[in-house]
Amino acid sequence: MEKREVLKQTTEFVKEKLKGDSSGHDWWHIYRVWNMAKKLLEAEGGDLFTVEMAALLHDIADWKFYENEEEGLEVVRQWIDRFNIVTAKKEQIIDIIKNVSYKGAEVKDTMDSLEGKIVQDADRLDAIGAIGIARTFAFGGKFGNPIHDPGVQVQMHHNFEEYKNAKGTTINHFYEKLLLLKDRMNTESAKQIAQERHVYMENFLKHFYDEWDSLK
Ligand code: ADP
Ligand code: NI
Repeated sequence: MEKREVLKQTTEFVKEKLKGDSSGHDWWHIYRVWNMAKKLLEAEGGDLFTVEMAALLHDIADWKFYENEEEGLEVVRQWIDRFNIVTAKKEQIIDIIKNVSYKGAEVKDTMDSLEGKIVQDADRLDAIGAIGIARTFAFGGKFGNPIHDPGVQVQMHHNFEEYKNAKGTTINHFYEKLLLLKDRMNTESAKQIAQERHVYMENFLKHFYDEWDSLK
């Protein structure tokens, strides 16, 4: 089967799987990550097919939707096993998906390949800026978190368990993750895009607190 056909079928599979998601992991998130990953690849190089497949499938195995990570990865594995893709490439796609997620403010990222770095950057760019703000409030609402509570402290998670089990506010999530992402971009191209999105979030927070305190 041609690569183009594999990508087309994978697109349909992902659309169907993420249909109806309201936590910010819907098909249009995948679409934006896919587009951004292609854009980053133009400047950074790398293998296009690997990047496209990993970008399309990166949220299928998300820990938030499965009991454990292995269960989610199995779904991805079964999907790519339908196609005649060389084993090393399949393994690389799985490896990217395994390592793509943010696992806490104090938890180091482990992404070795250029293709993985590109997909991770594209995913993280979609978590910041105007779209990042929209997604984070959607996520907070879906998981029952308050918008803001001045009495709740920001938590700098030291491990993935702490991050996963945290029950914070959505405004705190900016300090626990979103404002840290600019410095965790892998590629130069992503760092540049992140800069403007970062400033936009800082402005948003400033307005938010001013309005909270009836200053504006
Ligand atoms: P990653 O793509 O790095 O795995 P997630 O899937 O955890 O990131 O996050 C996807 C989206 O959900 C992002 O916009 C992120 O900011 C938001 N999100 C994740 N956890 C929270 C949270 N506790 N509160 C608010 N938004 C969150
Ligand atoms: Ni994602």
